[in-house]
Amino acid sequence: MTKMLGAGEPPTVLHLTEAEVLCEPEVRPQEAVDLDRPLRGCFVTGTDTEVGKTVITAGLLHALAQQGLRVAGYKPVAAGAVWQAAASGPGGHWLNDDVETLHAASNIALTRAEVCPCLLEEACAPHLAARLEGGRIEPALLIAGAHRLMPRCDALVVEGVGGFCVPLVEPEALADGGTALDAAAAGVGAITGAAHPAIDSGWGADDLAMALDLPVILVVGLRLGCINHALLTAEAVAARGLRLAGWVANRIEPTMPHAQLNIDTLTRALQQRHDAPLLGVVSYHAPATAARVAGELDIDAVRDALGLY
Ligand SMILES: Nc1ncnc2c1ncn2[C@@H]1O[C@H](COP(=O)(O)OP(=O)(O)O)[C@@H](O)[C@H]1O
Ligand SMILES: [Mg+2]
Repeated sequence: MTKMLGAGEPPTVLHLTEAEVLCEPEVRPQEAVDLDRPLRGCFVTGTDTEVGKTVITAGLLHALAQQGLRVAGYKPVAAGAVWQAAASGPGGHWLNDDVETLHAASNIALTRAEVCPCLLEEACAPHLAARLEGGRIEPALLIAGAHRLMPRCDALVVEGVGGFCVPLVEPEALADGGTALDAAAAGVGAITGAAHPAIDSGWGADDLAMALDLPVILVVGLRLGCINHALLTAEAVAARGLRLAGWVANRIEPTMPHAQLNIDTLTRALQQRHDAPLLGVVSYHAPATAARVAGELDIDAVRDALGLY
């Protein structure tokens, strides 16, 4: 299921778990995880893919680090990686922009495999990338990865995958009974049909958010159509019993007409319907660095939203 790598040898089929670990010289032994201990931090979702989830996640990490908090970025699943050979000698590692950005914005020592336990080579929908690579995404691994980081930090900022309801595991993959091995490697029990009533319809980013049970922050990429996407996403979050803790307006288009009117409409609607405050309006930046984004977030509102007093 998971291809093991030889030292320094770029694989043709990418790892779902252990292979990345083999590329990480500084990897720590797998500790037992306490899945019952609540997580602190937030789950960052977006109105779509490419709306600025990574940029805002990095900005949140930077802003919280400036407050003296120990923070870790977590990207449970990333799709799209290229092999980066070591400058000298054998070895190297898989490179993914989101993982690199969250790794750099975290202020505790993390391996790339800790930031992202499931890195897929193909840059496409994650469940398809996994299928193309001959494996499947293991929910237990993604959940355990978050819990494993928590004891070492004050806040975990989790970047979701794609939009809020993107599928991660196809129903037939969950039903094939092959979860036990990877779940054991993750130090947790297998995800079973009994534990997950939605198993018949697969398992997605929304199920992951529910399993992590973190307050949700919605990144709205300001462009035509974003009002509808934002309201639909907010409804989906609420329908799953999660708290929409706030939202960030992100100016991904420098010349969007009537951007402020869009922001005003959403500010009213998300506050009235979901009690979700605006946490910041992030300008178009070239480049949109974590420090620049952090400077435009209302840190008091962010701390409030995350329950970090
Ligand atoms: N405020 C911004 N100003 C300029 N470019 C931005 C801004 N926010 C995001 N981008 C750019 O838009 C692209 C998508 O952002 P990213 O954070 O990767 O989105 P996502 O994580 O939702 O897929 C990236 O190239 C990023 O640099
Ligand atoms: Mg991203």
